[in-house]
Order: sequence, then structure tokens, then C-alpha cells
Amino acid sequence: MNNKKKILITGSAGYIGSCLSAYLEKKFKVYTLDKKKQKNFIKKNKKNFFICNLLNKRKLEKILSLIKPDVIVHLAGKSTVNENIKKNKYYLDNVQATRNIIELMKKLNIKNIIFSSTAAVYAPKKNKIKEIDKLGPISSYGKTKLKVERLLNKNKNIKHVILRFFNVSSCLAKPLVGEFHNPETHLIPISVFKALKGDKINIFGKDYPTKDGTCVRDYIHVKDICIAIHKSINFFKKKQNLTINIGNGKGITNREILLNLKKILKKKINYKFMQKRKGDHPYLICNISKAKRKINWKPKYSKVINILNDEIKWSKYLIKNKFIRKFANVQK
Ligand SMILES: NC(=O)c1ccc[n+]([C@@H]2O[C@H](COP(=O)([O-])OP(=O)(O)OC[C@H]3O[C@@H](n4cnc5c(N)ncnc54)[C@H](O)[C@@H]3O)[C@@H](O)[C@H]2O)c1
Repeated sequence: MNNKKKILITGSAGYIGSCLSAYLEKKFKVYTLDKKKQKNFIKKNKKNFFICNLLNKRKLEKILSLIKPDVIVHLAGKSTVNENIKKNKYYLDNVQATRNIIELMKKLNIKNIIFSSTAAVYAPKKNKIKEIDKLGPISSYGKTKLKVERLLNKNKNIKHVILRFFNVSSCLAKPLVGEFHNPETHLIPISVFKALKGDKINIFGKDYPTKDGTCVRDYIHVKDICIAIHKSINFFKKKQNLTINIGNGKGITNREILLNLKKILKKKINYKFMQKRKGDHPYLICNISKAKRKINWKPKYSKVINILNDEIKWSKYLIKNKFIRKFANVQK
């Protein structure tokens, strides 16, 4: 029991962090950290939860010295893509926060970090995106994530795995825990929640050069994300650095998401088309061959029917327990 690896998850009160901490709990000795408390969705191990802003380097040093984790899974960050948010906020929570972690890792001799990067670091492309494809983030979010990737690449005495997530979606079924952004900006949770309540869903743009005129995205089930992180923890045995895409490897249009939802719920889905949004690309699909090759990972739970069915369970739970879900005017 005592020789279980110690894993520290930053951003553990967020969507992926709360799923991951539940998923890894039995496999490792898991410690969690966030600047805010998690909503009361799952039973938490209070002893292993640290409330700490990563910008508070002194407090962070105390926590890291106490835990001495074998691996840090760094999920904390400002993750909404919204150019109305001040650039400095992205810089602080994404770049400066990670710089603090890296400096303390060096000081305290902590060797391994997994960093949650994003598809937003790439320049737009119609075909499936490979890791060697052109980088060219346009959002402040994407730019700061790329800065962090470069920081990690410069620090040779720390081993890293950089995971470029595509559109993470759905929930962990056992224990039931899922996405609860405030406000929510992602298409799947918004569509499922609104469809269950009979509310109207906004779809942005209908004349993209895609098969049905709506944007194509690559949705990956959060359980597959947890498995990819687990496999990345094991990859540190190889003492190499790694940057890989983590996605479904298949694209689906916004309209197809709604058609699948209609089939599952057996009801009419209300939606309306809105103006295209600046910065939305028609296609965003990833090539996952490198993840298959390097960490022996491929998606198992990411068929659209599975993603939607699990998200329906989660949305029904939120509705039943009267959790108020707020929606932004934007949707990714
Ligand atoms: N959800 C997706 O589809 C997706 C896609 C690509 C990449 N990612 C990346 O994965 C990571 C997790 O995503 P998520 O959807 O769970 O995000 P989230 O917004 O739900 O969670 C992020 C958490 O980080 C915490 N945090 C932010 N700044 C902090 C700081 N300075 N100190 C301590 N805690 C801080 C927040 O309180 C929040 O709980 C993010 O880094 C995001 O950029 C997510």
C-alpha cells in the first residue's frame, strides 16, 4: 500500500480534475490542489485536498515539500476561450502558475509533470492534425498554453508529458461526476441539458465548408482522458519527454450531435442558427497515431452515442438535484 506512487493533481476542483481524482484514487496515492473548493458532487478526501492558488509560491512550496509527489498532473489553468477575458488573467493562471511549479520542482527535486495542453495551439487545418503540424494559436488561451509547452521543453532536468486535449466531454459514470463550468461554453453539455429541458440550443454558423455547413469537432470522453493520463504516468519509466494529441480521431458536425441527441431522447430538439463567431474554424480533428504508438492508448468510450448517453445521466442528476447550470453566449 505504502509504495503506491504519489500523484498531485492541480485544478482538482475543475471538470477533468474532479473526474481524474476519482478515477485514480484506487490506483495511486492521490493528492489534490485547487484555488477553489470543489462543488459537492463526490465524497472528497479532505486530508489530501489543499486549497492553494498556484500564484502563491510560498504556500505552494510548503505543500510540495510535504507531499513530494512522484508525478504532478497539472490541469489547473484558465481554460475558457473568451477574448473578453483580460490577457493578463491567462498569463497568470497558465504561464506564471506553471513557472512557479517548475521552479519549485527543480528546487525540491520533483521530477515528473504531465501538462494539459490543447488543440488550440495548432494553426487551423482541414485534415486530421498531427503533432508535427504547424503551430499557430490565435486565442490568448492557446498562446499561453504554447508558452507553457516551450517552458517545459527548455527545462531539461524535468521530465514531461504534454497532452494536447481536443474537445473533452461527458462524465465519469462511477462515481457520477462531470462537467460543471460556470458559465458553460461547451456544445455537448449545453445541448444535452437544454434538450432535456426542452429549451432552444444555439448553433453558431450554418455555411461553413463542411458536409452540412456546421463546424466539425473531435469529442473525446473524459474517461478516455483519465486513461490517457494514467498511461502517461506509466510512461515516465522511459525517462523521455513526450508531446501527444489526445482525441477521438474522428470528427462530427454540430448538426450531427443534435441528430444523435434526437435519436437517443426520441424527441424534437429545438435549435436555432446564430451568426458565425470570429475565430471558429470549420474543422478541428486530431490524428491519434502517436498516442497509440507511444503510450498504447486509443479511445474506448468515445462513440458519440456513449458520450451523449453518459452526459444525459449527468445532466439528469444536475436537474434532479437543482444544480443551476449557467450558459455563456458562446459555445465551443
Ligand atoms: N475541457 C476541455 O475540453 C479541455 C480541452 C483542452 C484542454 N483542456 C485543459 O485541461 C485542463 C483542465 O480543463 P477543465 O475543463 O477541467 O478546466 P476547469 O476550468 O474546469 O478547471 C480548471 C481548474 O483550475 C483551477 N485553477 C485555475 N487557476 C488556478 C490557480 N492559479 N491556482 C490553483 N488553481 C487554479 C480552477 O479553480 C479550476 O478548478 C485545463 O488546463 C484546460 O486548459 C481542457
